[in-house]
Amino acid sequence: MKIITSISQMQSTANALRAAGKSIGFVPTMGFFHAGHLSLMEAARQDGHTVVVSIFVNPIQFGPGEDFATYPRDLDNDSRLAKEAGVDILFVPQTSEMYPKQYQTSVVVKGLTETLCGRFRPGHFEGVTTVVAKLFSIVKPHVAYFGQKDFQQLVVIRRMVQDLNLDIQIKGLPTVREKDGLAMSSRNVYLSPEERQAALCLYRSICRARQMREEEGIREVRKIIADIQKIMSLEPLVKPQYIEICHPETLQALEYIEEAALLAMAVYVGKTRLIDNCFL
Ligand code: PAF
Repeated sequence: MKIITSISQMQSTANALRAAGKSIGFVPTMGFFHAGHLSLMEAARQDGHTVVVSIFVNPIQFGPGEDFATYPRDLDNDSRLAKEAGVDILFVPQTSEMYPKQYQTSVVVKGLTETLCGRFRPGHFEGVTTVVAKLFSIVKPHVAYFGQKDFQQLVVIRRMVQDLNLDIQIKGLPTVREKDGLAMSSRNVYLSPEERQAALCLYRSICRARQMREEEGIREVRKIIADIQKIMSLEPLVKPQYIEICHPETLQALEYIEEAALLAMAVYVGKTRLIDNCFL
């Protein structure tokens, strides 16, 4: 596995791969790998691509008071895991090269970023789309892989790719969960043992919502949300930020489930903000 830290070297390597007729499968990450990241790398490998993984803790997608400074980082372990996962190139750019002093450009997707997490994290998705657009023009992938745990991010990136006519296929892969249902997240490392236990109310909520929709035939959103609120209220360490059922493409809130629907939630468990979602 080759480790590249310079943007120009990554670009020339991508050009050479393309000239040699290779397809590039790209997994953008902020590092501190878990099984969710590894499943994206594995999918890219299975699809037969030259696999490029980036690690970059992108400062501009963190708001003031968020966890940019403390976001977990472990490049040595990540390199080992990426190598074991059959990654061909690990791209680890420097912040000073990604955002030099004179940097002034931003990529904004409008409507889709104004709902769900966007209401509580102003500027977050602008930071994500900006860095992903930059990474796309550096790595020049044919296909890029994202996890469905960050469902809004996936929808926003698909929109950006369509709107800017980027010639890149976006693949969204299912959320990987711990045995007890907790969605894998680099931020799970922040949880104390008590908080880790309390965080299971997210998965319990998903199971209850599925049961209501699929077994009990309930379609009224307020009834499903009321049950989830009850589940969360039993956990003193948990404070929901939002619990919404929305259309999975427009992300607009629904009152009644006709066809496709997405349950999306963000909660604080102690000081840690966790998100989860599922189709209903
Ligand atoms: O999902 C993430 O890890 C990040 O938001 C991404 C897509 C790598 C952009 O920084």
